[in-house]
Amino acid sequence: MGRKFFVGGNWKCNGTGEEVKKIVSMLNEAEVHSEDVVEVVVSPPYVFLPLVKSLLRPDFHVAAQNCWVNKGGAFTGEVSAEMLVNLGIPWVILGHSERRLLLNESNEFVGDKIAYALSRGLKVIACVGETLEQRESGSTMAVVAAQTKAIADRVSNWANIVLAYEPVWAIGTGKVATPAQAQEVHCELRKWLQENAGAEVAATTRIIYGGSVNGANCKELAAQPDLDGFLVGGASLKVVIFRSLPSYS
Ligand code: G3P
Repeated sequence: MGRKFFVGGNWKCNGTGEEVKKIVSMLNEAEVHSEDVVEVVVSPPYVFLPLVKSLLRPDFHVAAQNCWVNKGGAFTGEVSAEMLVNLGIPWVILGHSERRLLLNESNEFVGDKIAYALSRGLKVIACVGETLEQRESGSTMAVVAAQTKAIADRVSNWANIVLAYEPVWAIGTGKVATPAQAQEVHCELRKWLQENAGAEVAATTRIIYGGSVNGANCKELAAQPDLDGFLVGGASLKVVIFRSLPSYS
């Protein structure tokens, strides 16, 4: 049984009610392969979660872009995993590099968030990735392995985790990783899972790529053996990405 292809759209901090409705109506008309071939998850800002969930076609799903590290309480501005579950939101993105870098979310904090979200029944898109400086210094694998270890130290069941490799230097820059660069890290991450989480986890966990994916480069990236899908930022607001995906048997 192969790994079901996964396409995530991370809308980040973008949109108005009208723009969101327009994107959702384009998504609802997009011709994509059936849900048993490709899993599509879109992630609007918190404030649009109920709207998107109410309008989105039933074979596509919704993710929050973050959630708090524990149950709710005196944590001003935070949104708890329980609140997402209560809204019927099944997915959450955690550990995005923009939060790691801008909000100093440590590997351990991200690992705790992932463990708690899973414990509340959420499915998690767990992001890892190195900066340009880390890549140029040759520490790419050390960085993403440490980020992944912080998850593995807290989680034993990977069934509801999709691992997203997002090289920071490719995010929002137009400098997409080459297929070979992406495949190299995805392959190493799968080996890491094999050695540290077991053969079943390595074989079944989807490892998706994010960082300047668009309609022009997605086919060649998707052809890489250890690349199981995408987490798309900017291009997901244009929907055309979904029409560009290669056909899957
Ligand atoms: O989470 C996906 C995002 O970080 C990638 O952004 O705009 O480079 O596709 P973008």
